Amino acid sequence: MIQPPYQTIWDCCCDHGQLGMSLLNDGVADQVIFVDVLENIMAKLTDRLIEDFPPAHYSWQVRCDDIKNIQVPAEDSQLFIIAGVGPDQSIEFIKSLCASAPETAFDLLLCSVHGNYAVREVLIAQGYRLKEERIICDKNRFYEAIYASKKADQPLRATGQQMWDWTDPVHRDYWQRTVGHYRQKAKKNQLRYQLVIQHYETLRDALQAALKDNPEPNQPPQSE
Ligand SMILES: C[S@@+](CC[C@H](N)C(=O)[O-])C[C@H]1O[C@@H](n2cnc3c(N)ncnc32)[C@H](O)[C@@H]1O
Repeated sequence: MIQPPYQTIWDCCCDHGQLGMSLLNDGVADQVIFVDVLENIMAKLTDRLIEDFPPAHYSWQVRCDDIKNIQVPAEDSQLFIIAGVGPDQSIEFIKSLCASAPETAFDLLLCSVHGNYAVREVLIAQGYRLKEERIICDKNRFYEAIYASKKADQPLRATGQQMWDWTDPVHRDYWQRTVGHYRQKAKKNQLRYQLVIQHYETLRDALQAALKDNPEPNQPPQSE
């Protein structure tokens, strides 16, 4: 999904660094910065990078730190990837990165399981717009990849919009699971989650209506 070039791509919560290494391989950024809190894993990653991506030919840094300690540098062309952590952590990290550099516009690529509605609400509140979004199904688990930028053209929707293809049974399954997840949550907090469910139902109605009008893979009407 990444639209290069970037000066710097941050592989946040990188674990073994697979994602960042594939980015180094593809040359989509001048430098890749790997960040994770796990000391032993970061030491092993450093050894592997020295071996496979010699610093004479590749530009990378390894930082053993909490994402919440990162001060976003005042550079124009940066992408922060936050993948494989839950929505609450993703939200904490987005808020902390944005608070560290309110004047710096950096892009975000997020990929978490469940709770994407709240993640998207925070992105919208921080002034982010949509570059691209995708529903990903891997080993029977669903993820939303949300690629956002303050300079993007399209508005971001809390339910997602562009990514939904109602002709695809996998997407309909994801919609059912997502609404099922929020129905469970509504048992404890009716006020908050009933509204979320309503938004997903409105989205489904729009997708179904668009499908009736045009039986090809569809998009609901775009509006600000
Ligand atoms: C499941 S792995 C995700 C790996 C990779 N990003 C992916 O998508 O496959 C989650 C990683 O987040 C790291 N992590 C959790 N909290 C963190 C924090 N506050 N700051 C930095 N790393 C953190 C953990 O150490 C762990 O390596």
